[in-house]
Order: sequence, then C-alpha cells, then structure tokens
Amino acid sequence: MTQHTPTQLRIGICGLGTVGAGTLRLLEENKETITRRSGCEIVVTHVATRTPKPELCQNVAHSGDDPLALAADPSVDVVVETIGGYDVAFDVIKTALTSGKHVVTANKALIAEKGNELFALAREKAVTLAFESSVAGGIPIIKALREGLAANEIEWLAGIINGTGNFILSEMTANQSQFADVLQEAQELGYAEADPTFDVEGIDAAHKLTIMASIAFGIPLQFDKTYTEGISKVTPDDINYANELGYEVKHLGIARKTESGIEMRVHPTLVAKSRLLANVNGVGNAILVQGDFVGSTLYSGPGAGAEATASAVVADLIDLARQVVAGATFPVYPALGYRDASNDSPVLAIEEIDAEYYLRIPVIDRVGVMAKISNVLQDQEISIEAIIQKEAASNESVPIVILTHRVKEAKLNKAMAALENLEEITGAIMRIRVEPFHGEAT
Ligand code: HSE
Repeated sequence: MTQHTPTQLRIGICGLGTVGAGTLRLLEENKETITRRSGCEIVVTHVATRTPKPELCQNVAHSGDDPLALAADPSVDVVVETIGGYDVAFDVIKTALTSGKHVVTANKALIAEKGNELFALAREKAVTLAFESSVAGGIPIIKALREGLAANEIEWLAGIINGTGNFILSEMTANQSQFADVLQEAQELGYAEADPTFDVEGIDAAHKLTIMASIAFGIPLQFDKTYTEGISKVTPDDINYANELGYEVKHLGIARKTESGIEMRVHPTLVAKSRLLANVNGVGNAILVQGDFVGSTLYSGPGAGAEATASAVVADLIDLARQVVAGATFPVYPALGYRDASNDSPVLAIEEIDAEYYLRIPVIDRVGVMAKISNVLQDQEISIEAIIQKEAASNESVPIVILTHRVKEAKLNKAMAALENLEEITGAIMRIRVEPFHGEAT
C-alpha cells in the first residue's frame, strides 16, 4: 500500500492573547527549522480571535472571531486552544475532538478540572489532546515525566510551579518587604494577574501539580483532592526565622507516593538552604523528580511568558506533525484521565500526611509558658527539633518559633488547637510544613 505523506499540517489558533500570538510568531520566525524537524510544513491557516492582530496574521488565510466554527472546520487538522478559562475553551476543545481533530492547549485549569472527560473523548475519537504548555511554561516537564522517565517508578516530585508566587517570596526574602507591597510590584511588572488569587492562593500551582501527579502515578486527574494553601499569610518575620534555622520559604507543589496513598499538596514550605530548589528565585520555575532508578532529576527554566509558553505549544505541534508524517495511529502516548489497572492508590487527605513543621507561636512572655507549650506537644507525642525564643521588647506578645520532628498532621492539628486555648497565647499560630526531600534529592 502506498502511503500518502502529508506536506502540510493545517493549524487553527483560537485566541490571540499572549500565548496564541507568541505561537504564531514562533511558527513564522523559526519556520525553516520547524519544517525540517517536523517532516512537513506547519501552517497556520485559520485564526479566531476577538482581538484581531492584522500585523501578525498577514500570512493567515482565514481570520475570524468564531472559535467554534474554526474547531469544526474540516480544512483544519489541528486546533490550538489559547483562549483560557473554562466555558468557551471547553466547547472549542470538545468540538475539535468530536470532529476528529488533534488539539494542543495551554489551559491548565481546564485540563486539571475537566481533563478526565476530555481525554476520554480524545481516546474514543483516536486523536491526541496535547498539553505540554499547561505546566511550567517552557520547561518540558510533561515530556520528561511521560517519555524520559517512563521506565521509572516515580517516588515523588516537588516544584516551584508558580512564577508570581516565587517572585513575591524572593522579594520578601531579599528586602524584608510585606506580602501586599510585593504583590503590587508583581502586578505592576505584569507578572501577576489583575486578579492574582489563582497565583498567590496556590490554585494555579494546584492545577499544574494535579496534571503532573496524574502522569507520574497513573491516576485520574483529581484537582478537588489536591490540598491548596497560599502564601498570603507568610510574613517577613517567618522568612527571617526560617533563615536563622537554615531554611528558605518556598511555595511548593509536592506529589508523593506513600504506602498508604498519594499526597498532592501545594503550600508554603521550608526548604534547607543547601537544596537547589531553595536557590531558585524570581519568576523562575523548577521541578525536582525522584525516580526509583534514575534518582533525582531537576528541571528549571521560565514558567510563564509568551516566548517560553509558545516554545512548548510548538513542541506539541512538531510532535503531532512527526506522528502524522509517520502515519501513526493515535494516540501515541497514553492519555491522562484514567487509572492504571495496577494502581488503586487513594489520594490522602492533608490530615493523613506525615511531615515536619515550623510553628510560630505568639505568647505573653511569662514564667512557665514554655513548659505549658512543651506539655501540649508532649501530649501529642510531638518531638521538638529546634526552638527560638525572641527577646521581649516590651510586655507585649513575643514569638516562640519551633521546628518539630516528623508527626502526623492530625496530631499537629490537635496540638495547635490545644495551644491556641492556652491563656498565654495571644493570636493565631503560624504553621509551615518543612520538606526534607527524603531520598537522594539534590
Ligand atoms: N501566572 C502563572 C505564573 C503563569 O505566575 O506562574 C503561568 O501559569
């Protein structure tokens, strides 16, 4: 049988915001290299956008404002969804998959929250839903997990996966600034969203962690089971005390396979200063992955921005082009969204994890207060690793800072509730989890 080798892959881009425009520009600027590496020409034939950019679209044959019409158009081979959000983007992807088209998306919220349904549809239609750009911008972490590390049992992964949050914590550390001030700076520099809740409250990171954990452990996407805590309560004092104890404060997404189940959690974390992750600053992202044979591997780079994200979108397009040219039956890679037959691990509630903790306890500096705190911790069998008591500047509240040894979070919660009932405690206790990276982490 003679096989027809396509000379062109016809692309329709829905949404010409930062990522869509970056994708168009990259396909134009690196056209020769991309064609050589793809084995065929990748041509943007259609664009659907509510913000036309005629200067970018001079070589695009069809420009319009109806993404659903584009998604159903039989003359488009692959739909790139860079609209973002849930509603229209979901309909676009569903229409494209139903029409038998491959889809490339940067939409982490949609993949994390509605991916199970979309991947089931892609499987049914034997097409590919590609999403490299949805996690950590330009860092090829999806490929690393799915291809490069495919032979390993992934034991855990931990990453700085929100650039805005990392910028804020880095600035607070460098300049002793307050959270609210640095957030404003991040917005002025264009890093944070106008509504930065997704960034600073950990939702953006939880989307990315949900996707990575699904690949790493062969489990369905379970965003609703990912524990999510933001950085808005971290103070410059916490960062200083952590520094005194030998740690940096980072906003980490952590996924780990344990004997009792899978942990998926995003929260501020104390990371020893000697660790590589502790030294990733500014808007950068970095992800550490521990495989049973390979050991620990680190992936770092730009986690956001037009160029970096377009680099990942176009990598997916090149992959698709190579597969089409090779006459592959789709999908070549196992899709997300379903459980490996061999894996029935439940996702653990945060109360079920075992961790070490930093506690900042505001107290009236009175004789006997330390003994009372020790008794409460002893009642829950919590052992203290380090303690700092700051001198009282006046009769007012002073912080006692404690690092605990490993304990179940449910016990720590009981201890915190009992501590907050002591008459010497003057306010809420700050609790930050410590990540020692058991295994061979760098
Ligand atoms: N707002 C995200 C960040 C952009 O700051 O990392 C990419 O998801």
